[in-house]
Amino acid sequence: VSAKNYKIACIPADGIGPEVIDAGVTVLKALSAASKSFTLDFEHYDWSSETYKKTGKYIPDNGLEDLKKHDAILFGAVGAPDVPDHISLWGLRLAICQPFQQYANVRPTKILRGTESPLRKAQAGDLDWVIVRENSEGEYAGQGGRSHRGQPWEVATETSIFTRHAVTRLIKFAFEVAQKREKKHITVVTKSNAQRNGMVMWDEIAAEVAKDFPDVKCDKMLVDAMTCRMVLQPQSLDTIVATNLHADILSDLAAALAGSIGIAPTSNLDPTRQNPSMFEPIHGSAFDITGKGIANPVGTFWTAAEMLRWLGEETAADKLLDCVENVCGNGVMTKDLGGDANTKQVTDAVCEEIKRCY
Ligand code: NAI
Ligand code: MG
Repeated sequence: VSAKNYKIACIPADGIGPEVIDAGVTVLKALSAASKSFTLDFEHYDWSSETYKKTGKYIPDNGLEDLKKHDAILFGAVGAPDVPDHISLWGLRLAICQPFQQYANVRPTKILRGTESPLRKAQAGDLDWVIVRENSEGEYAGQGGRSHRGQPWEVATETSIFTRHAVTRLIKFAFEVAQKREKKHITVVTKSNAQRNGMVMWDEIAAEVAKDFPDVKCDKMLVDAMTCRMVLQPQSLDTIVATNLHADILSDLAAALAGSIGIAPTSNLDPTRQNPSMFEPIHGSAFDITGKGIANPVGTFWTAAEMLRWLGEETAADKLLDCVENVCGNGVMTKDLGGDANTKQVTDAVCEEIKRCY
């Protein structure tokens, strides 16, 4: 069998984005060389807050058309100290996710072997979750406006949009994710006591979809109570589905409970596969550590593994994550995980481990 080839668009963007994407590409090259089962062509796009400051645009004309030629997108982080966050987020990340209908944002979290959770009693295995976040509408639909700017009577509205179409496709996708996992358990998170329209529709749709998945155990939680359950009974959860905003917040908590925001990946998936899906570490551009060479690359390695899984390279994906856990287990970790290694040392150790494992 000849090796499959995948075209990957890299958008490192801002802050530590270029540092972790560089590490990720190094590890992916080592993996493809060792496995011999696939090859990767990387194309780099310099779309960033720097480009925006020079040209007024994050994405040049026809940029999205260009991206469509690729099988997947590997994304770093966007955000700069001198550009308002809503400009950078809408200019680059949401400008890709929303037109490409990457409606499912999938965020796995677990305590990696060799790392420690801030939850004193939790062991690896007690916290092993996948959060499925609605990624196309909800609280981040961009509906709303501001009137009477700067006046004492100024008003602003930020309207959440929940459509039966988007909620149904997302909840169905989340049940499919749950069904493929060992525990076959899903928790539907809403806030349907206080928000009595959109959230009640979520609950109703979840109950309808649940009927088509009799083998998946389903329970529901209000988002505030959910934060307590994540901390106090992590082992009682497996797959979690929630709105764009709720899941955004819960997944940062999840990453911190697993040990660091520096380890967790995100997949922005178009499950119809009409558009390339986009993969990124969950963290942002981390100005405070940019340029120091100490960013944790593990989130990007796990992201790379999830990208390979989506492309159909299950074995290589499992192997990569296994190698990352071995390296953590050997104590080679960055400072955020309690170690003293830098980005390059962790990257080199993972490349060595890949060579050893094949
Ligand atoms: P952040 O994730 O960049 O940083 C939060 C804290 O975690 C910082 O102390 C940082 O040093 C640390 N940290 C993050 N990643 C790390 C890593 N790989 N290794 C070690 N430590 C790490 O979040 P923050 O500070 O809220 O946002 C900074 C900028 O990033 C903002 O402009 C924000 O809008 C943007 N951002 C972009 C995201 C994206 O592109 N998807 C996601 C989150 C934030
Ligand atoms: Mg976030």
